[in-house]
Amino acid sequence: MKRYEQLAHDIAESIRSGVLVAGQRIPSVRHASKTYGVNASTVFQAYYLLENRGLIRSKPRSGYFVCSQPRQSLPDREHSQMEVTSTAVDVSELVFSVLGSVRDPSIIPLGSAFPSPKLFPMQRLARSMAKATRLMDMRSVVADLPPGNHDLRRQIALRYVVENVPVNMEEVVVTSGAMEALNLCLQAVTSPGDLVAIESPAFYGSLQVLERLKLKAVEIPVDSRTGIDLEVLGKALEHHPIKACWLMSNFQNPVGVTMDDASKKSLVALLRKHQVPLIEDDVYNELYFSSHPPKPAKSFDEEGLVMHCCSFSKSLAPGYRVGWAAAGQFARQIERLKLMTTISASIPAQAAIADYLEYGGYDRHLRKLRHNLEVQQNQMIAAINRYFPDGTRVTKPGGGYFLWLELPGNVDSLKLFKLALAQGISIAPGPIFSATRGFRQYVRLNYGHPWEQEFEKAMEVLGRIATSLK
Ligand SMILES: Cc1ncc(COP(=O)(O)O)c(C=O)c1O
Repeated sequence: MKRYEQLAHDIAESIRSGVLVAGQRIPSVRHASKTYGVNASTVFQAYYLLENRGLIRSKPRSGYFVCSQPRQSLPDREHSQMEVTSTAVDVSELVFSVLGSVRDPSIIPLGSAFPSPKLFPMQRLARSMAKATRLMDMRSVVADLPPGNHDLRRQIALRYVVENVPVNMEEVVVTSGAMEALNLCLQAVTSPGDLVAIESPAFYGSLQVLERLKLKAVEIPVDSRTGIDLEVLGKALEHHPIKACWLMSNFQNPVGVTMDDASKKSLVALLRKHQVPLIEDDVYNELYFSSHPPKPAKSFDEEGLVMHCCSFSKSLAPGYRVGWAAAGQFARQIERLKLMTTISASIPAQAAIADYLEYGGYDRHLRKLRHNLEVQQNQMIAAINRYFPDGTRVTKPGGGYFLWLELPGNVDSLKLFKLALAQGISIAPGPIFSATRGFRQYVRLNYGHPWEQEFEKAMEVLGRIATSLK
């Protein structure tokens, strides 16, 4: 363990054991650096790690404070296993039956993948959209073909520059949401029958893409505190002809974990050693609660082997369907695949988002969004503590809008899903996140909605049903 990791570990232990309690100020950087005999940058690194794990938060000009914690969090090495096998993926029926039944707007959407539209500047965006359609030059129908609208790509590239991520505008290809970027990237580097390393549990959308492209999944366990198990991944890469790796290094869906920088660096080095491209799904990267954004694994990419896929769907403009891939050495392939499949992303939507990014106050909106999500996360954790059966364990991600719960006893999340739906509440049951239908005792809940009375009530009902199934 590096010095800063040891320091972060010691402080985390003090929080877990109750020595440091919610709301308490932890030692200042100067004080900690004296006490522990390390330099200030080591303390900063340790505090940054703790912030990313949702254990502490910084308040401008006041210092660092302990966040409120779930009653019980998921333990380390939750799913660790060393055996690596590949599986043909067949999840769509289950995913569609779960997701299809929650489209009814009267259902309380705790199982939804979307945050509430109330959190987004829809009216301001509508002004940008109106301007884009009013000023639309018919030549842009051709000019904005892949790789996409020049101004938008410039704005996207600028955000990378500000965060010191080595991406140039040339490698940015605009797509119809991140989902298309991810699809095209995987398609560019695989053929039917190939093996792809994915996380376990994984975003069900990734499982469906593997199923559609007739690829086989090599599931690598995700630890709820540290992310994908690099030891198991290394072993899988040694013994299997894996053609690509698809993962989320930040606010992983569904677990919520963010890998630390050292692990991201090791991940990229490991994949480089085996010359396996990484498809990095980073759709929640703007939704962090700490003072700094988490770096993408793409930050450590020297050979253009990482395809960084993002969108504005979760951070600004749900429904506009504008995303992108910063696709490194694969950019021209992605550009062609985009042309061959859906020709281009919507021309007015691209122009509208470019306009908003330039004049709309994106960073101001993001600050508000992050604050709201963090408040809502605390409200949901408090409700779990109030209503769920003893022995329920929950993650506390440092960003995004999902909690991942392990239910006690023999509670079956598919049964819970059916009973909750009958009461007008949706949840995302664990098995939709696994090619092997595991995680039956797990549930993903969405806190991306303002905490109105109906959400408190829904949590109470859900907790009661879970207790009855225990
Ligand atoms: C982890 C993850 N990746 C990708 C997507 C797709 O993003 P987009 O709506 O931009 O296509 C989603 C949407 O739910 C998601 O949760």
